[in-house]
Amino acid sequence: MTRIAVFASGSGSNFQAIVEQLRTKHQSVEISLLICDKPGAYVVERAKNLGVSSFVFPLKDFGSKEAYETAILEVLKEHEIDFIVLAGYMRLVGQTLLEAYEGKMVNIHPSLLPAFPGLHAIEQAWEAGVTETGVTVHYVDSGLDSGPIIEQQKVMVTEEDTLDTLEAKIHAVEHEMYPRIILELVNNRQKWGTVPL
Ligand code: GRF
Repeated sequence: MTRIAVFASGSGSNFQAIVEQLRTKHQSVEISLLICDKPGAYVVERAKNLGVSSFVFPLKDFGSKEAYETAILEVLKEHEIDFIVLAGYMRLVGQTLLEAYEGKMVNIHPSLLPAFPGLHAIEQAWEAGVTETGVTVHYVDSGLDSGPIIEQQKVMVTEEDTLDTLEAKIHAVEHEMYPRIILELVNNRQKWGTVPL
């Protein structure tokens, strides 16, 4: 059994897709926890509805990033978490969590990295007028959306698209891709930290 914690800061549509798709089909993985840094984020409501325990850690309640991550790490250890999935977690991961989980932590980003890292990646691509963008799943390192890439999937930008339709297409790809890759990782624990899987 692989015990996973999802970290999220916002709406949580990826969190929900992961829980729903992995819960029903697979006994080898459990989405054990949601860790959220934003009180009131909709993802906390989703966790409640899905029956997943959630912990909210507002960074400002801690004296430093290190203290904040140390508190999170304690909860992860208590719940014997093996693997961390970032899904719209809007912070850089610091040394404390990286030392404990590097190679066992992945992120999803809505662009074809290294293009358009950071915030508002879909808008960045839209404004740049690209004809294709996409989604990247990668391991997490200390940089901004910079760790080793596990998989990328392209999304075409067509004449008919608006920013809203492009966002919808990208999220649909994310919701298929992320649960599938997480399951692949769960089934190949000996390959954690390596690419390709
Ligand atoms: C997704 O687009 C993900 O790629 C990015 O943040 C967004 C989170 O969306 N890292 P949601 O909260 O899962 O709906």
